[in-house]
Amino acid sequence: MAKVQRIGILTGGGDCPGLNAVIRAAVRTATRDHSLEVLGIQLGFEGLLMKSCVPLTNELIRGILPKGGTLLRTTNRGNPFEYPVGDRCEDRSAEVIKNIRELGIDGIIAIGGDGTLKIAQRLFEMGIPMIAVPKTIDNDLAATDFTFGFMTAVFVATDAVDRLHSTAESHNRVMVLEVMGRNCGWIALYSGLAGGADIILIPEIPYRPEAIIESIRSRQSEGSSFDIIVVAEGAKRVGGEERYIDRRSRRLGGIAYQVADEIGREINQEIRVTVLGHIQRGGSPIPFDRLLATRFGKAAADLIAHGDFGKMVALRGEQIVAVPIRDAVSNPKYVDINGELVGTARSLGVSFGDGL
Ligand code: F6P
Repeated sequence: MAKVQRIGILTGGGDCPGLNAVIRAAVRTATRDHSLEVLGIQLGFEGLLMKSCVPLTNELIRGILPKGGTLLRTTNRGNPFEYPVGDRCEDRSAEVIKNIRELGIDGIIAIGGDGTLKIAQRLFEMGIPMIAVPKTIDNDLAATDFTFGFMTAVFVATDAVDRLHSTAESHNRVMVLEVMGRNCGWIALYSGLAGGADIILIPEIPYRPEAIIESIRSRQSEGSSFDIIVVAEGAKRVGGEERYIDRRSRRLGGIAYQVADEIGREINQEIRVTVLGHIQRGGSPIPFDRLLATRFGKAAADLIAHGDFGKMVALRGEQIVAVPIRDAVSNPKYVDINGELVGTARSLGVSFGDGL
């Protein structure tokens, strides 16, 4: 096997706090420990179609550790296997492979979520030396205990729950907070539990409006005059469907308004809705994510230098390990509805809007 000399790094899909920390750690390790040359590929796989690259030097990455977003910019529209051209899609993967060879890139570190990792796996199967780093605020990737970015999103969402508590209490209101997470309820469950929400609605446990109303009434009968409901954007009622802002691009959103509407007529309290949106993805990563991103970046650079391709770095317990990329993209990691976290919430009196 030819020795790896020049590597590329790209960030794909939605941005996420900690991307810059991965880039910094990977560049430092690659240049200092392995004497590799590093090219930053801009705008994810799109940058490989346009041959849009910048040399990533230690000067360029100085000071980026605490910064949100990604120095390399990103897009969730640049899938080379289904590249949008007008109303149809083209397979431009052959062009990507040709350009990788022409750029003299011996291996690529792809930092991304489910979509990016699926592209990375397909290119790996076509002979491109790939290493993957799992990123997403949704924490929905199998094969790793946590993705970086998730804890920052939980921190932001928990802060929102705290802030809604004081205003809910002052006005005797029901506050419905919609958080991100796609079809997994991790952000809702973690922030709901950490913020002391009364009702948590997650995609894994379809809800019944009657059960939510019953839970609010039961709290009222115990003397409470306000309620906090945290709802994951992918939640749905029993027998119902997810709510989309845009069904074609599968952008979820609006379930909090639906829940408010469904329960509003039955309870004698005012209801207000907050949709937290991209605030959960922006800004500086919290220390947990900076650390995880740094460990992932270092481990990814080691793997690529040693030619151990087709692997994704992952957190298992306290350890950073390498797992096949294909293991991470086979199935989303859903909340275990019989697991300890959901059980703890239930023991504390949290309703998941089920039952009855
Ligand atoms: O996957 C991350 C995520 O923020 C999801 O939680 C959310 O559904 C989606 O991306 C939003 O995507 P966009 O930035 O394209 O609106």
